[in-house]
Amino acid sequence: MTENVSNVSKEHAMNIMNVDYSTKIPNNVNLSEDRQVLKALEGWHPGYMNWWGDMGPEGFQQSLVYLRTAYSVDPRGWAKFDYVKMPDYRWGILLAPQEENRVIPFGEHFGEPAWQEVPGEHRAMLRRLIVIQGDTEPASVEQQRHLGKTAPSLYDLRNLFQVNVEEGRHLWAMVYLLQKYFGRDGREEADDLLRRRSGDADSPRMLGAFNEATPDWLSFFMFTYFTDRDGKMQLHSLAQSGFDPLSRTCRFMLTEEAHHMFVGETGISRVVQRTVEAMKAAGISDPNDVAKVRALGVVDLPTIQKKLNLHYTLSLDLFGSEVSTNAANAFNAGIKGRFHETQIKDDHRLQNSTYPVLKLVNGEIKRVDEPALTALNMRLRDDYTQDCVKGLLRWNKIISTAGYDFKLTLPNVAFHRQIGEFKDIHATPDGVLIDDATWNKRKGEWLPSTDDGDFIASLMIPVTEVGEFASWISPPKVGIDNKPGDFEYVKIET
Ligand SMILES: [Fe+2]
Ligand SMILES: [Fe+2]
Repeated sequence: MTENVSNVSKEHAMNIMNVDYSTKIPNNVNLSEDRQVLKALEGWHPGYMNWWGDMGPEGFQQSLVYLRTAYSVDPRGWAKFDYVKMPDYRWGILLAPQEENRVIPFGEHFGEPAWQEVPGEHRAMLRRLIVIQGDTEPASVEQQRHLGKTAPSLYDLRNLFQVNVEEGRHLWAMVYLLQKYFGRDGREEADDLLRRRSGDADSPRMLGAFNEATPDWLSFFMFTYFTDRDGKMQLHSLAQSGFDPLSRTCRFMLTEEAHHMFVGETGISRVVQRTVEAMKAAGISDPNDVAKVRALGVVDLPTIQKKLNLHYTLSLDLFGSEVSTNAANAFNAGIKGRFHETQIKDDHRLQNSTYPVLKLVNGEIKRVDEPALTALNMRLRDDYTQDCVKGLLRWNKIISTAGYDFKLTLPNVAFHRQIGEFKDIHATPDGVLIDDATWNKRKGEWLPSTDDGDFIASLMIPVTEVGEFASWISPPKVGIDNKPGDFEYVKIET
């Protein structure tokens, strides 16, 4: 008897772990028995393929790309690598296994069983959060669509396309939730996700950073390091959700997202590495001698700092206002938790606690204690900043190991902000408040100027020979799927 029960549950667990590739839409949510949702998704599919054709990577659609595809949601071995043409990638619906007896880990419903259906009273809020998350996924594909033309190597080209197809899958993940749990208005939202366009004047994507251009590969690496990391923080918070299907979706998305941030972190490492090597070989001792360094065909460190300043601050804006009743409501409702909520040792209700928030008080930046509930955006942003620091330590290690006295730093959170407490003032990267005139005179020292952009653009010459790399970036230490340095990650001629 006991044995039978455990066999049955084991088999059940296997079904959830492994992805069914027999249907048009790969999934581990038993779509073949969920006819209505399957039909809705099949109805949405052609529009998605049209969107991919119009707004997905420009060119290379007939190239064979060495991509990973998820075959299981088991964190120990879920991917298979193979050559795939991007339009043939099997986008699918993959949820982490359901945790038995999971309870809502925070808010007013703390300790109650997690919801398997949408709680009626929180329906609108939940739908909005899913739509906002969903909107970022196709947006980044649109932002990156021109980059294939200037990839510094086949290795990098492959990584770009891997990120792109997975962002496409993340859109599927959110669309599944909308179509399965939100009826007609969910279907309308799913259609709208294919209608909006990054940077479009009439129908832009919902969040600022996702309407910015990603003009070059340094931007791409900064974006995957800083902006995908905002995505990580948002997904972690939603992975805590009392709405269990959302939690399970986000948990699996996080395993894919890790690669995107790896691409960013190692990409910047390789740029920094190449720069300091070239400087050393040429006997340049001053890293701030921009003209001399640029003459070597590498990106000078001050320009890397400016790009970092831009992408970090655009990403900070994604966390919203430091003090927010929306954030408090989503937490109280059990919809959106904190980063690592279940590991935090407190009451998980936050009715009486406070959290320090950086605010502008009488013209000065000060820490002010606010109710912890309304300060949740600030808290998540602080967690994000801490997470960002790790990469900077690695990049600075490369610089100091090469013998250079130069440190990449994160600018003060008051610098270059369009959302929140500091949106109406100007501050230096060190957090010193300055007037408009000073800002206009000096901003070129801190943010990429047109000249900087032109210089970086001049380096963006595509390299498509197997095993070769552009002048401004080092090869990776290890290949994807442990492939050797001369592996043909993208077969362009087909
Ligand atoms: Fe994503
Ligand atoms: Fe991502």
